[in-house]
Formats: sequence, C-alpha cells, structure tokens
Amino acid sequence: MGQYVRHVFVCTHGEFCPFDGSAEVHRLLKEGVAARGLKKSVRVNKAGCFNQCGNGPMVVIYPDNVWYGKVTPERAQRILDEHIVGGRVVQDLVYDAPPGPNKNAGRMADINAARAAAGTRPPGSS
Ligand code: FES
Repeated sequence: MGQYVRHVFVCTHGEFCPFDGSAEVHRLLKEGVAARGLKKSVRVNKAGCFNQCGNGPMVVIYPDNVWYGKVTPERAQRILDEHIVGGRVVQDLVYDAPPGPNKNAGRMADINAARAAAGTRPPGSS
C-alpha cells in the first residue's frame, strides 16, 4: 500500500511550464491541500519535465493517472476542489494526448522568443 491516497506532480522544473505559471499552480495546490487538512493523504510535489512542453503548466495525479494541461490558477482551484478533495476527475480539463512525448512546438517557440526579447533564460540553464 502506498503512502498517499493521491500524489500530485506539477512540472515546475522543465524549461517551459514555469514560464506559463507552474510555480503558482504548485503553490495553490500545496497550500490548498494543507488548508483542507489533507497533508497526510495527499502529497503535492514539484517535478521536472513530462515531455509535454508547451502544453503546460502540466499537472499529473496518481494513482488516478490523470493528466491536466494548461492549468491556470482558476483551473488549479477546480482540480483541487473537484478531483483532489472530491475524488471526481475534472473531465473538461483532462489533457488528452497519445502516450509519449507531445510537445507544442508553436508555444515553445513563442516562449523562447519572449525570453530572447527579454534577455532571460529558462530556469536551470547557464
Ligand atoms: S516543461 Fe513542463 S512538460 Fe516539459
């Protein structure tokens, strides 16, 4: 038997999800779990890239094996209330893609262009 009823992973250490706000999504989910007294049964962890770059912020919930993409703070609140607390998958927010890497080259190019214009680099790059 596992340690947690649900284990939530947020891509906060990939090159692209952080640009679209994954740190805030992680914070909202982690604080929301704590505020509801669920820290013993639900773990919210930061994670590296899920190979779905440009479709983020990405959130994955196990053992349900449910993936959510483009998770805004508002969507994170729904995922918290409906799925993590309520146990019901938020069907209209589910990320539906074939197994394996599914990168959104257009969004990745936009993020890289924005970074180049701002003179910034992705997190973790030197
Ligand atoms: S950067 Fe988040 S899935 Fe790749």
